[in-house]
Amino acid sequence: MRSPINGAADTTEFMNKNPRHRAISGGERQTSITSSFPIVEQPLILPSVHKSVVITGGAGFIGSHLVERLLAEGRSVCVIDDLSTGSLDNLSGVARHPNLTIRRDKVSTLPDLVELVSASSWVIHLAAAVGVELVIHSPIRTMETNLRETEAILAAAAVTKVPVLVASTSEVYGKSHKSRFSESDDLLIGPPNLGRWSYACSKLMDEFLALAYQREHGLPVTVVRFFNTVGPRQTGRYGMVLPRFIAAARTNEPLRVYGDGEQTRCFCLVDDAVEAVIRLGNESSAVGRVVNVGNDQPISMTDLARTVIRLLKSSSAIELVPYEKAYAHGFEDMRHRRPALERLEEITGFRPRRSLEEIVRVTAGINGGRS
Ligand SMILES: NC(=O)c1ccc[n+]([C@@H]2O[C@H](COP(=O)([O-])OP(=O)(O)OC[C@H]3O[C@@H](n4cnc5c(N)ncnc54)[C@H](O)[C@@H]3O)[C@@H](O)[C@H]2O)c1
Repeated sequence: MRSPINGAADTTEFMNKNPRHRAISGGERQTSITSSFPIVEQPLILPSVHKSVVITGGAGFIGSHLVERLLAEGRSVCVIDDLSTGSLDNLSGVARHPNLTIRRDKVSTLPDLVELVSASSWVIHLAAAVGVELVIHSPIRTMETNLRETEAILAAAAVTKVPVLVASTSEVYGKSHKSRFSESDDLLIGPPNLGRWSYACSKLMDEFLALAYQREHGLPVTVVRFFNTVGPRQTGRYGMVLPRFIAAARTNEPLRVYGDGEQTRCFCLVDDAVEAVIRLGNESSAVGRVVNVGNDQPISMTDLARTVIRLLKSSSAIELVPYEKAYAHGFEDMRHRRPALERLEEITGFRPRRSLEEIVRVTAGINGGRS
């Protein structure tokens, strides 16, 4: 049966294809979470390949690339997305794929969430309120989305202990001045009167909650802290820097660099982030761990702007814009944000290594890059 949304397979098909669901249907399935889960002390073992995957936020930037990759590997995918910042256009390349199911809804209000999750062998939870501008202007929505949706997916997964990978962010490292951020570092978050920290705090609570579900309910979880991830289909609408710069360079408008432009970031191509996520999903040693995922080559925002202008052969100027003008009074930014990648490499044997030039070319779809 085809979905009324875009021709993808419907939910019943996703559930019927999956032996996990068949095993728990027929009266055995638990439909609510109780406090009677045992605390699991033995090591958790994962299957080497997850055949059917639920991706929340699968119509978003990172999610849509993950969906394409998982389908190409022959897996079944069920996307749950309310399209608040994502779009079905992101999935247009796979819209008619027989192994794809799309549910257009909030995670927390999906009536058959438990059934869907129980029918899968892996959950990748990406749904979140994302983007500095969105976070600053709508902190309530940010916190409610990030907390409520994560709680809903973890509770659903705990019913049959389906492994969950929870997307977190490098923002949780906060204002730390360390030159590289490691997963076991202390975190230095700003005060609650500055709305931008609501994103970091809500994501950090997601991490605590996920790890607590593992401890108290035996739910296998992995937390991924994505550092700046970029690539085709990322929107600049919510303040993401590279798509903003590329759009401005294309029309020879000034590239607006916030602050003094000397702050540095490390940019990771989405394909590499997807590779890391898939490998983490296949490794039992990733369970119960927090893992940085990113590239570790820093570049200042001014140099990024120069690189974009050069590669796009643009005549744009660079305009420095004070943070107060770009965001709100008292906005705090981090000077540097660079991941330590030893843990990722130790678990997966992989670390992203693409050059910034290649990343910009691929993202902009220009010569020498793939689109
Ligand atoms: N892109 C990055 O650089 C980056 C960096 C750090 C962390 N992350 C994290 O990675 C994840 C994916 O980010 P992205 O860049 O792809 O952003 P995105 O906005 O493109 O994707 C988020 C998706 O979640 C969906 N969504 C939001 N609320 C929802 C809800 N209540 N129910 C169902 N769907 C909902 C949106 O419609 C969207 O498709 C997020 O959790 C984000 O915090 C991303």
